[in-house]
Amino acid sequence: MKILVVGSGGREHAIIKKLKENKSAETIYALPGNGGIAADAVCVPIGACEIEKIAHFAKTNAVDFAVVAPDDPLVLGCVDALEDVGIPCFGPRANAAIIEGSKVFAKNLMKKYSIPTAAYEVFDDPDKAISYIESVPMPVVVKADGLALGKGVTVAMTKEEAIGAVNDAMKNNKFGAGGRRVVIEEYLEGPEVSVLSFTDGKTVVPMVSSMDHKRAYDNDIGPNTGGMGTIAPNPYYTPEIAAACMKEIFIPTINAMNSEGRTFKGCLYFGLMLTKSGPKVIEYNCRFGDPETQVVLPLLETDLLTVMTATAQGRLSDIDIRFGEKSACCVIMASDGYPLSYKKGFEVSVPDDLADSVYYAGVTLDKGRPVTSGGRVLGVVGIADRLPDAIKDAYDKVGRIHFGNAFYRRDIGRKALKKTEV
Ligand code: AMP
Ligand code: GLY
Repeated sequence: MKILVVGSGGREHAIIKKLKENKSAETIYALPGNGGIAADAVCVPIGACEIEKIAHFAKTNAVDFAVVAPDDPLVLGCVDALEDVGIPCFGPRANAAIIEGSKVFAKNLMKKYSIPTAAYEVFDDPDKAISYIESVPMPVVVKADGLALGKGVTVAMTKEEAIGAVNDAMKNNKFGAGGRRVVIEEYLEGPEVSVLSFTDGKTVVPMVSSMDHKRAYDNDIGPNTGGMGTIAPNPYYTPEIAAACMKEIFIPTINAMNSEGRTFKGCLYFGLMLTKSGPKVIEYNCRFGDPETQVVLPLLETDLLTVMTATAQGRLSDIDIRFGEKSACCVIMASDGYPLSYKKGFEVSVPDDLADSVYYAGVTLDKGRPVTSGGRVLGVVGIADRLPDAIKDAYDKVGRIHFGNAFYRRDIGRKALKKTEV
């Protein structure tokens, strides 16, 4: 089979490595991939949002199956374009990807179908948004409606911060059209859990739970990033909570999307907060999380290609999806300065025996040598029977990987360990 994977990060590398375990995956194309992914796939220089070129490439190269991993091409209709030229795909069509593409859509869906989430108001007029902020107690959370490279959410402790976020989105066009409307919502407290799920619109199969670490520095301080590390499973996500989420959130969301004529097929990501009054949805993503995928897929025991093709064909209920009873930890090694400004072009040295544990993101080839080319450079994964050993395994490996200007958090998994010690 010829398989095409759209995207270029560590998440895509994790998907590609897992797909390769199936012997029938003879060729995997990564569009565009990166210098590290090039060891596992044929990288083709077509950007993830060049939808027409992607569909043309897939058609002319007789691709049998495509996986569209990032949010932007999904929201722009990459699956629609591929399916229109006859290529079966893993991923939602644009009319379902809107669950991530518009926060206003997602919030209104949850309200209409009584899915637990933070109370909220929507504004398309900045002055009305500011008057509202003046009238309510802080903190509040201000969210730009559209995709904003993960930077559209401001947890505002003061009225000044909240008003600043509204001005940035609505008056200063910081997120372009994505900031024309904002959601202002209730501030929730509690541990956060990421639950990725496979769904074909009829069946929903949650994957092993995970915990992201979004802030740049240890002890959750510093600016928000795309994610500095993950662990799985998330010890806060007990079997009782999982059962409640299935009943009150996962199945109602799938049914709600069907009722709206927007059947969701692919990976639906539930960003949850476990509040005192029960689990609530913080965000939906229409795709695998990054770097959640790097800890979730290595624990998947069922063949990924089989699961993905069954999802695309609406046969997910035929498949028995299993995860191993192990723990995983991913530590992101970044360029110092990320997520703001940072230097690039440093040679990356990874011992050969670690190749299976490393997922490349910001790496390019310079005369055949891997060099840093982005903020998040690579993710290093440790796996063990118990979480403390998985964390140790990941950090032992990190200690053997070198590149100029490397930076990483030293406390990935610490919060999870505290829970397991209770
Ligand atoms: P997002 O960009 O949607 O992933 O949101 C970034 C982060 O903002 C989340 O991981 C939460 O930590 C935080 N956040 C989002 N919504 C809320 C909320 N209603 N209350 C408290 N924190 C929130
Ligand atoms: N790690 C968070 C996300 O993928 O959105």
